[in-house]
Amino acid sequence: MIISAGADHGGFELKDKLVGFLREKGFKVIDNGTNSPDSVDYPDYAKAVAHDILEKRADFGLLVCGSGIGISIAANRFKGIRAALVTNSDHARLSREHNNANVIALGGRFTSFEDAAKWLEIFLSTPFEGGRHERRIAKLDE
Ligand code: RB5
Repeated sequence: MIISAGADHGGFELKDKLVGFLREKGFKVIDNGTNSPDSVDYPDYAKAVAHDILEKRADFGLLVCGSGIGISIAANRFKGIRAALVTNSDHARLSREHNNANVIALGGRFTSFEDAAKWLEIFLSTPFEGGRHERRIAKLDE
């Protein structure tokens, strides 16, 4: 499984730790940056990750900004991207089971590495339930 990761300056520290965590677990990770505290614009990183998924270079995306809000909004502008801002374990599970989310978005200034790693593992290991949710997801892209 290939994960595309991206973050702005508000999220790069958490993103970098999660990239290391994923690589230790055996995932292949495309790290789109940013990799420093210098101020950047989160839509640029959401765009890079969205393109990796839509062009099939990655299976899932990981996006982190300060709150997780801006970068999830940006990612959801791309048709076919379903980015979920996750703030607890149930969100991580439900975003996969019901929404077939293909991007997990996190708030780097509000999330510990321990919580983020746990939510990421839930996100990546939970299958989409399909059924009635399939119809709803199809309507997102109409
Ligand atoms: C950057 O300061 C901050 O606005 C950004 O990381 C994010 O929280 C936006 O939603």
